[in-house]
Amino acid sequence: MNKKNILVVGSGGREHAIIHTLKKSDKVGKIYACPGNAGISELAECINILATDINGIVEFVKNHPDIYMTVIGPDDSLALGLTDLLLSKTHCKRVFGPSQAAAIIESSKAFSKDFMKKYNIPTAAYEIFSDYEKAKKYLANISFPTVIKADGLALGKGVFICEDFYQAESALKEIMQDKKFGAAGARVVIEEYLKGFELTVLSFTDGESLIPMVTSRDYKRAYDGDKGLNTGGMGCFSPHPLFNDGLMKEALDEVFMPTIRGMKKEGRLFQGCLYFTLMVDVQKKGRAKFNIIEYNARFGDPETQVVLPRLKTDLFEIFEAIVDGELHKMEIEWDNECSVCVIAASNGYPLDYEKGKEIGIGELNKDTLLFEAGTKFALSGKKVTNGGRVLGVVCKGVDIGEARDKAYQEIKKIEFEGIFYRQDIAKDF
Ligand code: AMP
Ligand code: GLY
Repeated sequence: MNKKNILVVGSGGREHAIIHTLKKSDKVGKIYACPGNAGISELAECINILATDINGIVEFVKNHPDIYMTVIGPDDSLALGLTDLLLSKTHCKRVFGPSQAAAIIESSKAFSKDFMKKYNIPTAAYEIFSDYEKAKKYLANISFPTVIKADGLALGKGVFICEDFYQAESALKEIMQDKKFGAAGARVVIEEYLKGFELTVLSFTDGESLIPMVTSRDYKRAYDGDKGLNTGGMGCFSPHPLFNDGLMKEALDEVFMPTIRGMKKEGRLFQGCLYFTLMVDVQKKGRAKFNIIEYNARFGDPETQVVLPRLKTDLFEIFEAIVDGELHKMEIEWDNECSVCVIAASNGYPLDYEKGKEIGIGELNKDTLLFEAGTKFALSGKKVTNGGRVLGVVCKGVDIGEARDKAYQEIKKIEFEGIFYRQDIAKDF
């Protein structure tokens, strides 16, 4: 069989992990990455076109008839309609990643909340506002804590957990009056604060069938003890020990399948990776055990860095089955190990941080994985920092404790000026 060439769009640890996994397939030939990073350039040809430059990507694909499949990593490329453009304007009809119409499940929280209400999918009670004064008036009559979310994409930073009216008022002001998130904050969702334990379930779906991946849990806040600002994610582990097979089966029936059936009914067939953030409250009597906190229309980052290394099935074959609408024919296998990822970030992240710091990487154990995000090669040929989240160190073990201890030993071998990482990843859950 001829090996197939693939374009992967994106430049994060997620895309590095996807490319690393695709490379294991004997069906995969050359991989291009738009734009990739220094780590990715060791596995793929990096093309200097940003993931949000969707017209640039379309031109690149048109000029490369050898590209058999495109895999889209980031949310904003999907929300901008890259899938639709590739399908309508290029020879590449095999695109992993949902259409713009389906990606709205992530790009508008107002859409996703109304969708869940319509299809009886459990989620926190909520109201949507586009008028600041009306939203403020509503806040005067509710109990706290409450949660305020900008409607659109905000790099995971548009969510505020507010302990009292004054915090809520200031969040509302930041989003709606100061327009901190631009047009993404034209509307807000104000919702009930949920209790329980939180986890991520990434799933493969062709819009008809859905196969959940192994579970994971992300640490979103910048500092230990869940202090500091929300980030894209500072570390992760897989699987979540509290989420057993019985709960997975219930979640499949009560939450995951109703979601893809609802999307199909809306004429928004979802093909790609559908990401569920669930709040699980097993104590809850008479009400839903599972509540959806949010949907994402793509692989999570860093979740992908702990999930894909546990995949035993050929990822390329899974992507093929999804674009062909034949996922029901796939059996997907995972290993029984646990994995932990710790992210090394640049001082200041998620606010301002410096770039261009030389990265030193000591001799790592042979089974340690290093997924790079904010890295590039400087003109000098040295690898330097080029982003807030610089790289993820991923280790596996027989249990979470072993994987965690290894990851923390290994990350000590990474050096750059201003490096910081959380010390409590996978320590409590
Ligand atoms: P999101 O970007 O919607 O996933 O929200 C970011 C984080 O805020 C989530 O991972 C949760 O930890 C927290 N969060 C969001 N919505 C709620 C809620 N209704 N109740 C409690 N925590 C929430
Ligand atoms: N780690 C959170 C996300 O990918 O949205």
